[in-house]
Amino acid sequence: MSTKEPVVLGIESSCDETGVGIVRGTQLLANAVSSSMDEHVRFGGVIPEIAARAHLEAFVPTLQQALDTAKLTLDDIDAIAVTSGPGLAGALMVGVSAAKALALATGKPLYGINHLVAHVGVGVLEGTVLPPTFGALLVSGGHTEILKVTSLTKDVQLLGSTIDDAAGEAYDKVARLLGLGYPGGPAIDKAAKDGDRKAFRFPRGLSLPKFVGSAENPGKHRNNFSFSGLKTAVARCVEHFEAAGEPIPVADIAASFQEAVVDVITSKAVRAMVENNLTTVLLGGGVAANTRLRELLAARCASAGIALVVPPFSLCTDNGGMVAALGAQLVADGAKPSGLEFATDSSQPVTQIVLTH
Ligand code: KG4
Ligand code: ZN
Repeated sequence: MSTKEPVVLGIESSCDETGVGIVRGTQLLANAVSSSMDEHVRFGGVIPEIAARAHLEAFVPTLQQALDTAKLTLDDIDAIAVTSGPGLAGALMVGVSAAKALALATGKPLYGINHLVAHVGVGVLEGTVLPPTFGALLVSGGHTEILKVTSLTKDVQLLGSTIDDAAGEAYDKVARLLGLGYPGGPAIDKAAKDGDRKAFRFPRGLSLPKFVGSAENPGKHRNNFSFSGLKTAVARCVEHFEAAGEPIPVADIAASFQEAVVDVITSKAVRAMVENNLTTVLLGGGVAANTRLRELLAARCASAGIALVVPPFSLCTDNGGMVAALGAQLVADGAKPSGLEFATDSSQPVTQIVLTH
């Protein structure tokens, strides 16, 4: 195997996307994704059991599609990487079982890797050059995290995360309150375009001085997020119009809600970058598609002298290419494979980049 440019198959099944990607070194050869999103629509959110069953059905066709696109067979693969956590337990188990079976049948080394670090790992693909130390902001239906990456394969720290809902989850819940359907993110993004973002002043979670503290004496939640109070404030606002028998100003509420989310995420992320001397930040996760998030983050990064890296959207949402990308970095770095005995870890900490046995 070429350890500089290993060919790695990456498998992702932590939520509702079954992803199989193939990379050679830092080149993406294939990125096949099958999503069970449509099956969750009528429930207004991802149902773990349905997601796990969908992975079981989609895995083999998605694998075949990735191999066909890359014009490779399993013999050409040097190593297999799979998301071992964090994520939905049942969903993770399908991908990990499939990966173990493939590793056993082919004799290829297997790496059980961290989903959050894989989101950052896509940053090495497509010719993007990242500095040795950089920051990352992950925002999706499952995550809202600020990370410090000192080494993609050896040292990643969690600077802050949500203490309740993920940002995308808040979008999905508020969209339901406004009757905008699921997934809520794109619907609110669209509705907000016709609204006034200053119409309502919704709370910015964990932004009071008692939570934030100062640079010298940081508060417990300086870099953390909370969206549950915001969600309740939107619900009260909607109820107020309903009780008064007045039409609900959907566009204004959507725009004001979105501003509250995006304001707090971008200000906390940029402050964390500055305080940790990080001059580059990578944005990942499904909410990276949000127009206002991109706009405000770009503006705030520019004023703070921080370079913003946003991978193509297909690499920001959950996919196997990101798992393969991190796997290839681990192989190139000489990391020890995880063996065949590891379990999934639905709350795998970000500091555990690859599982050891
Ligand atoms: O990364 P992703 O595909 O899956 C995980 O949740 O891991 O992200 C999906 C989330 C959903 O909550 C969806 O509402 C949100 O990303 N999303 C958006 C937008 N597009 C997708 N949120 C805000 N604005 C958007 N344009
Ligand atoms: Zn994800």
